[in-house]
Amino acid sequence: MTLVSTRTVVDEARAAGRGVGAFNVITLEHAEAIVAGAEAARAAVICQISENAVRFHGGRLGPIARAAAAVAEGADVPVALHLDHVTDGELLRQAADHGFGSVMFDASQLDYTDNVAATRSAAEWAHAHGLWLEAELGEVGGKDGAHAPGVRTDPAEAAGFVAATGVDALAVAVGSSHAMTTRTAALDHELISRLRDAVQVPLVLHGSSGVPDDELRQAVTAGMVKINIGTALNVAFTGAVRELAGAGVDPRKYLAPARDAMAETVAHLLAVVGG
Ligand code: G3H
Ligand code: ZN
Repeated sequence: MTLVSTRTVVDEARAAGRGVGAFNVITLEHAEAIVAGAEAARAAVICQISENAVRFHGGRLGPIARAAAAVAEGADVPVALHLDHVTDGELLRQAADHGFGSVMFDASQLDYTDNVAATRSAAEWAHAHGLWLEAELGEVGGKDGAHAPGVRTDPAEAAGFVAATGVDALAVAVGSSHAMTTRTAALDHELISRLRDAVQVPLVLHGSSGVPDDELRQAVTAGMVKINIGTALNVAFTGAVRELAGAGVDPRKYLAPARDAMAETVAHLLAVVGG
């Protein structure tokens, strides 16, 4: 039984000057692969389920959340469960009942004042229910399919945002972009250091699939703590499925290698960010 709180995993990583990988779960095989990869790397890990993934499961959080929690409970490394990129207040309120230790409430598309108001109210609710709350300032691009690496979070604004909202962690825009299938992003490490000095809470890097290993290492050194990775698992999964899709009708023939490929990716990236 090693389902632990996100706060514990993130605080321990931060205190040790390490990063912690937070990987997105879409299917049961993703959750199994994340835990297998973390066990191979002997590292703590965060399993996160995004609002988009909930939508894929017909808008029902329960089945995939319970599956991920059950996989986490059977792990022999610490595993935390996080609800990711939540924009829907109704979904936010479901987090408390499904084993999550944390939520990322994403009001980053709103202008600053509206983002502060929506995030402060989400943080108050989360704290009243024992949940750690992450928010985003300076929209990390790519969620609409467009590569938008030019956006940046301003350190002074970030400090004001954290003070005004009471969030426990802050996702910042420093050069990464969501859903990249090539690892070509270049991060602004000097900005990461300035953000780390400006805000008291741990920093979160989104869109990390597009960031090369060495850039990830430098990002952790500069002050990033929670490293969010989704697409890299899907690249591994789909690569294996494509290779084996002609191997008969039993889905286990391609899902097993796809799960192994994701686990290898997880183990590798955990060694990079936690090394
Ligand atoms: O919140 C999730 C991450 O930001 C994943 O981004 O799919 O580009 O790695 P990615
Ligand atoms: Zn993200």
